[in-house]
Amino acid sequence: MFTSTLSVLALACTALAAPNVARAATSAPPSGFSISSVAALGTGCPPGTSYVLVSDDNTALTAVFSEFYAVAGPEVSISQNRKACQLTVSVKVPAGYNFGLKNIESAGYYQLDSGVSASQGSYYYFQGGLSQASAWTEFRGPVQGKEYIGKVDYDLTSSVRSPCGKDVVLNILNDVRVNNSKNKQGSGAIAKDLVNLKQTLNLDWQAC
Ligand SMILES: *[C@@H]1O[C@H](CO)[C@@H](O)[C@H](O)[C@H]1NC(C)=O
Repeated sequence: MFTSTLSVLALACTALAAPNVARAATSAPPSGFSISSVAALGTGCPPGTSYVLVSDDNTALTAVFSEFYAVAGPEVSISQNRKACQLTVSVKVPAGYNFGLKNIESAGYYQLDSGVSASQGSYYYFQGGLSQASAWTEFRGPVQGKEYIGKVDYDLTSSVRSPCGKDVVLNILNDVRVNNSKNKQGSGAIAKDLVNLKQTLNLDWQAC
């Protein structure tokens, strides 16, 4: 059913504050910002099934997945009900700034029998930080087969921020789930994938 899955994750920055406007959003990352490495790890992105692109100007991060999907059904093992892929992003943060993620744009495909539900979502946290922000979308069957695309705001985005002016590791855990507990004979599947799966992570810079 999901022979070719494809998912894209893009990271774009919001508007930079004028120097005299404290705490305004920014259109480009402040000078000194860079993404030094990105790794993808998880059941949704086994080795060889994903790649990550960072744009030259460090404003966009794109991850493409070819096997990121979850399935539920009477013959399907529970281990297939949820798949996840964590992106571990090493970020250089210039002095005087911190950042959080505003929202994430994603697209994919789902197909659900009556009584079967699915969700796709993401949460992020900074290594060493205690809190995480999440952004989720839920779907309910019956749905014959449909694409989803859209931007979802992270909750708690104003409190889950990088340390001030310090290099940091940002973890973004993406996941897809299918639940057929209300209709055990029903099946469903969801992918972060197919041709136009796209996610945009907007950085929200602040002076600190
Ligand atoms: C599936 O849905 C049921 C009923 O809504 C819920 O109780 C259960 O926790 C869900 N299972 C998972 C693995 O999310």
